[in-house]
Amino acid sequence: MSEIELNLQTEQEKGLQSLAAINSLPELEVWKQSFLGKSSLVMTTFGKMGSFSKEERPLVGKAVNAVKVAFEAAFASKEEVLKRDALLQSMESEKLDVSLPGRAARRGRLHPINLSLREIYRIFGDMGFQVYSSPEVETDDMNFTYLNIPPYHPSRDMWDTFYTEDENVLLRTHTSPGQVRSMREYYPNPVRVILPGACMRYEQLDQSHEIEFMQFELLVVDKGITFADLKGTIEDFTKRMFGPGADTRFRPSHFPFTEPSAELDMACVFCGGSGCGVCHGTGWIELGGCGMVHPRVLQYGGYDPEVYSGFAAGVGIDRTTLLRYHIDDIRYLRNNDIRFLEQF
Ligand code: DAH
Repeated sequence: MSEIELNLQTEQEKGLQSLAAINSLPELEVWKQSFLGKSSLVMTTFGKMGSFSKEERPLVGKAVNAVKVAFEAAFASKEEVLKRDALLQSMESEKLDVSLPGRAARRGRLHPINLSLREIYRIFGDMGFQVYSSPEVETDDMNFTYLNIPPYHPSRDMWDTFYTEDENVLLRTHTSPGQVRSMREYYPNPVRVILPGACMRYEQLDQSHEIEFMQFELLVVDKGITFADLKGTIEDFTKRMFGPGADTRFRPSHFPFTEPSAELDMACVFCGGSGCGVCHGTGWIELGGCGMVHPRVLQYGGYDPEVYSGFAAGVGIDRTTLLRYHIDDIRYLRNNDIRFLEQF
């Protein structure tokens, strides 16, 4: 055996021995440099094959190749073992503790006005009413004139509102304009609708007044509708909404679009009727107005007042919400205070 073959054999023993002692990936890299790198015996021997005699060359070639193959195989299996160990170790140290309690997702909820609204829909849905939606930005004609409030009429002052640059376009002050819109759509069929939505008014703000508020309008038009139908419907509603003990009263009143007209009041739930800030000392809270649809309004809607009659009502949804949940200031409803909203 030539000297170089002997050297290669020693190199192989040395290499495999030192590889066996290695137990980290950085150490393995260093090992690779010294036994398979550019200046290792294996690689430099390959580099000088030309300097061996014709007879030596195949023997040396075979020997060096065998060492190289042995090193590469040993390196590959060592690398695999070390990588697997490293992975197991990191899995062990970064273990997920699935028994830790999770972070609860914050759940949204319905605003108290919407809770009331859903209850209102349910109650009137039971009575056969359909929900009709009508625009919040209205024409002057719909908001006033077709409700029997001509341009010169002083009762317009009761509904001071926000006007736009187009003098015939305004923010509706009540849901009543939907009366004419729905009648025109349903004609000549009977009408039994509830019209919910936002209304705007130029108001002095206090515990029970806001410039924006929600209202729903009721409208029934058919042959033979009487004030008894109005009273029965409203009383059924208040009893179902506020409980069988809810005390309501109809107070004679005037609205240009109804004749006769009444104001619908509910006994104040805050003071039990003795008078407080919410009810302005009267013991009663006004829920809305109602009455028999004025013949002229029926006509604007397309119905012949000699044949048809109807009743209408407009009820404050914010007020209803205050009474339902015993909230003593209407301003809570819109100032987005999470401490308030979380209670519903
Ligand atoms: N639109 C009136 C308001 O907002 C309320 C009202 C009164 C509506 C009498 C009606 C009604 O339908 O018949 O002040």
